[in-house]
Amino acid sequence: MNFQLTEEHLMIQKAARDFAVTELLPGVIERDEQQKFPAEQIKKLGELGFLGMMVDPKYGGSGMDTISYVLAMEEISKIDASASVVMSVNNSLVCWGLETFGSEEQKQQYLVPLAKGEVIGAFLLSEPEAGSDATSQRTTAFEDGDHYILNGTKNWITNGNSASTYLVIAQTHPEKGSKGINAFIVEKNWPGVTIGAKENKLGIRGSDTHSVMFQDVKVPKANRIGEDGFGFKFAMKTLGGGRIGIASQALGIASGAYELALKYSKERKAFGKEISQHQAIQFKLADMATKIECSRLLCLKAAWLKDQHEDYVLAGSMAKVFASETAMWVTTEAVQVHGGYGYVKEYHVERLMRDAKITQIYEGTSEVQRIVISRSILG
Ligand code: CAA
Ligand code: FAD
Repeated sequence: MNFQLTEEHLMIQKAARDFAVTELLPGVIERDEQQKFPAEQIKKLGELGFLGMMVDPKYGGSGMDTISYVLAMEEISKIDASASVVMSVNNSLVCWGLETFGSEEQKQQYLVPLAKGEVIGAFLLSEPEAGSDATSQRTTAFEDGDHYILNGTKNWITNGNSASTYLVIAQTHPEKGSKGINAFIVEKNWPGVTIGAKENKLGIRGSDTHSVMFQDVKVPKANRIGEDGFGFKFAMKTLGGGRIGIASQALGIASGAYELALKYSKERKAFGKEISQHQAIQFKLADMATKIECSRLLCLKAAWLKDQHEDYVLAGSMAKVFASETAMWVTTEAVQVHGGYGYVKEYHVERLMRDAKITQIYEGTSEVQRIVISRSILG
């Protein structure tokens, strides 16, 4: 067993850290307040190869491993989780799904620009009445000659307005249940696609969350991903890796808050000494550091299993549930360490606390992760 990161890993980690500090930190508070999508910053992330990190260079990607992806996600999420969710969706849901299960034509047409970061993608599974219960798809795609006709509403779609390529999950053969579901590549500007209003959210306010409506949208049969009926398995397999991305996002939010709390505790004085000299604060910092290290090890283990082509579903769910619960706890304690200053925007920790909450909800709630884990351990 080797816990040493390679030179290349360290370089990628540093590049992501430098980018986060120089490009994302300025303006992060204003973007959060104004719910402003970090469009310019995402464009630069794409130019640096962070939007198609694990994609084969022959499809325009950076050809890196999943460990590099975890390291980069942590660094970007320390500063701006609204930017890192764009990175996570594009890398581990959209690009990975297309590269792993798409046809050669689909990869040339859609994956290449996504991996180069020229455009971004979105993953459309959730619906108003199908969130955790993802097999209850109401969106339908019925065959009509060379096409499918797509109708329905998707909810909570990250990159809903900024993406140009959608991966849409829909029910094609209702009588077959989850085996009748398909996944389709749909272009945002096709007739019949409508974008709902941007959601006004608690956290990750810079990210672009919308409902997306489909009315009689003609989807060429060539845009179905995989065999007829593969759509639910496509969604589950893709989310297996996506959960490593969100676990790393949670890890970054937690470690960003911890670094701020550690620094502040050495500066702020109370009762004649730095607050870091009070044991109550020391124990908080000790617990933060320990839980963050556990989260990091779980994320890296899941990433390593994926890179070894071994089963990573259990490890990914464990990483996500632990890292997201750690992020919520650590960020709340980081506000506490800052006292009243933690409650105002300039100190960043209140934003990190608001951002942490979503990691317990999307890409499978903590309860869903426990369903996946318990099914795996019980057999
Ligand atoms: N790999 C392959 N196949 C899988 C699978 C996996 N990981 N998990 C399930 N399946 C298969 C099952 O084997 C089954 O197939 P068969 O009938 O052929 O055996 C089929 O899928 C149905 O599976 P289940 O019976 O287990 O389905 P279920 O109704 O009990 O649901 C669930 C299981 C784990 C709760 C699932 O519905 C789930 O993950 N829900 C959460 C949805 C989710 O994560 N949404 C995220 C949306 S994207 C997002 O959120 C992005 C973002 O924020 C940025
Ligand atoms: P529900 O499924 O209704 O759950 C409500 C509560 O009941 C939760 O606590 C849940 O854990 C619990 N619960 C449900 N079933 C069970 C059970 N069997 N056992 C125990 N507890 C249970 N979706 C996409 O497809 N693409 C996206 O890009 C995307 N981005 C998102 C961005 C944001 C900001 C948000 C808020 C959501 C996003 N989602 C996206 C949707 C997200 O994945 C869902 O919100 C999530 O899966 C939960 O579904 P739900 O909101 O319908 O809650």
